[in-house]
Amino acid sequence: MDRLPKFDGKAFFAPMAGISDPAFRLLCRENGAAMVTTELTNANFIIQKNKELRLQREEITKILEFSPKEKPVGIQLFGNDIDKIVEAAKIVEPHFDVIDFNMGCPAPHITRQMAGAALLQKQDFNKKLFTKLVSAVDKPVTLKMRSGVTNNNCYLFSNIGKLAEECGISMLTLHPRTVSQGYSGRADWSKIKQLKELVDIPVVGNGDITSPETAKAMLEETGCDFVMIGRAARGNPNIFNQVNSYLTNDSYDEDSKAQLKMLFKYLKYTENYDINFAQIRSQAMQFTRGIKGGAELRVRIGQTKSIDEIKDLFDEVLE
Ligand SMILES: Cc1cc2nc3c(=O)[nH]c(=O)nc-3n(C[C@H](O)[C@H](O)[C@H](O)COP(=O)(O)O)c2cc1C
Repeated sequence: MDRLPKFDGKAFFAPMAGISDPAFRLLCRENGAAMVTTELTNANFIIQKNKELRLQREEITKILEFSPKEKPVGIQLFGNDIDKIVEAAKIVEPHFDVIDFNMGCPAPHITRQMAGAALLQKQDFNKKLFTKLVSAVDKPVTLKMRSGVTNNNCYLFSNIGKLAEECGISMLTLHPRTVSQGYSGRADWSKIKQLKELVDIPVVGNGDITSPETAKAMLEETGCDFVMIGRAARGNPNIFNQVNSYLTNDSYDEDSKAQLKMLFKYLKYTENYDINFAQIRSQAMQFTRGIKGGAELRVRIGQTKSIDEIKDLFDEVLE
């Protein structure tokens, strides 16, 4: 087991498909996220792409883009074949600070392949996977999981947490909802507290942090070592600055225009990466959340065809 990087804060940015692109991750990191992680990435895809890229004498970072300024940056892998997951981890480990494994994704196209949260039920597989993965790479391996699959087995996280610790996993993130819950109801933070009491490795609490106040409440109520923020950071990377300020000074600045201004930075950063325009446009819409006239603005963003058109629209709004 290798050492975790040194983190300069308490709040991590969650891996989120379609959101955690390298431009947005960099913005989160610059705005106080203590660690950022790629969206979930298929181990088979990495192996296949790596083969193709090697023939062209290129590195895997040609498609798994990141900036050194993001560091510490984790890569999140998913898969259902132990040897392939290990092979993919070895390919990416020279470039990333942490290898995170996904055992939380509830999307049917992932769980049907017995990957993501479907693995919560496969204790024997998990033991082999954790052991092999940890011994195969020099970088720390972490695990992100949901609490269980249905209400009947909503405590699967405790056995997996214990097993993961025994096998040398360095840190656990728990989003305490079951797969069948999706995003309904509330994340059951008492399960984060239970996990923290069960293991000695760092625990990251995740689920329903919407503000600096809720971030602090999760840290205090559960005793978790770090918190992870997902949906509340969409279009709002400044939430990490606010959390850091609130945790140290009990206060933070609120400036809704700062959110819009940050969009320009995001758009500028996208120029350095291969991010498709549909994703950039959808990210731009996120920056209008909670802003007066946001709904109308989102309709207009939906009609844009280039980054320049998005910029013109926001210039108009900021005037
Ligand atoms: C659009 C979207 C994409 C997500 N993609 C991933 C992913 O790639 N990997 C992962 O582990 N979790 C993913 N999640 C789950 C989040 O990381 C997080 O666990 C969840 O949203 C709960 O945290 P929150 O209440 O702060 O949003 C995703 C969530 C959303 C909303």
